[in-house]
Amino acid sequence: MGRKTWESLPEQIKPLQGRINAVISSNPDYELPEGVLQFDSLDQALMAISTSGIIDRVFVAGGGQLYAEAVLHPELEQIFLTRLEADFDCDVFFPEKIPEGFDIISATETMESDGLEYYMVILERTEEALLDADETVEELVDPEY
Ligand SMILES: NC(=O)c1ccc[n+]([C@@H]2O[C@H](COP(=O)([O-])OP(=O)(O)OC[C@H]3O[C@@H](n4cnc5c(N)ncnc54)[C@H](OP(=O)(O)O)[C@@H]3O)[C@@H](O)[C@H]2O)c1
Repeated sequence: MGRKTWESLPEQIKPLQGRINAVISSNPDYELPEGVLQFDSLDQALMAISTSGIIDRVFVAGGGQLYAEAVLHPELEQIFLTRLEADFDCDVFFPEKIPEGFDIISATETMESDGLEYYMVILERTEEALLDADETVEELVDPEY
């Protein structure tokens, strides 16, 4: 996760349990609790993790800056996307365009929690896009596209 996402997490849930936490920051002196890894780029993190021999899957947990880099990364395999059916006053966003070559492999029905409707979609990189065009993917991910 990016340094700002780390800072946005409530103290009581840091570090995120059951997984190795890695924070990306260009500041080598940035202080993190023991056990939380720090890297100065996404690539440096991926390289260290892939050679560790103990990590099977890496999840990029945000925020906007890191997502923007991750969706263009050649090693990206899947995108787990939750879409909330409501408007919010936001200043950080997931990248607007889903990269080419990704298809929806599963989607939930619209669900509801505390009056908020949402659905989840999993996109996966495919050798050959089965759906005709990313436009279709974008329509599914964003019905107002
Ligand atoms: N809805 C969601 O799914 C979701 C998920 C996660 C986060 N969020 C929200 O997103 C917001 C934070 O997003 P953000 O875009 O402002 O920040 P961010 O991506 O979390 O973090 C940005 C920081 O990460 C470091 N960084 C990122 N890319 C880097 C690179 N290539 N090389 C070196 N350092 C790099 C830099 O830290 P330094 O400045 O220290 O160098 C940069 O300032 C928070 O409000 C959080 O709550 C939402």
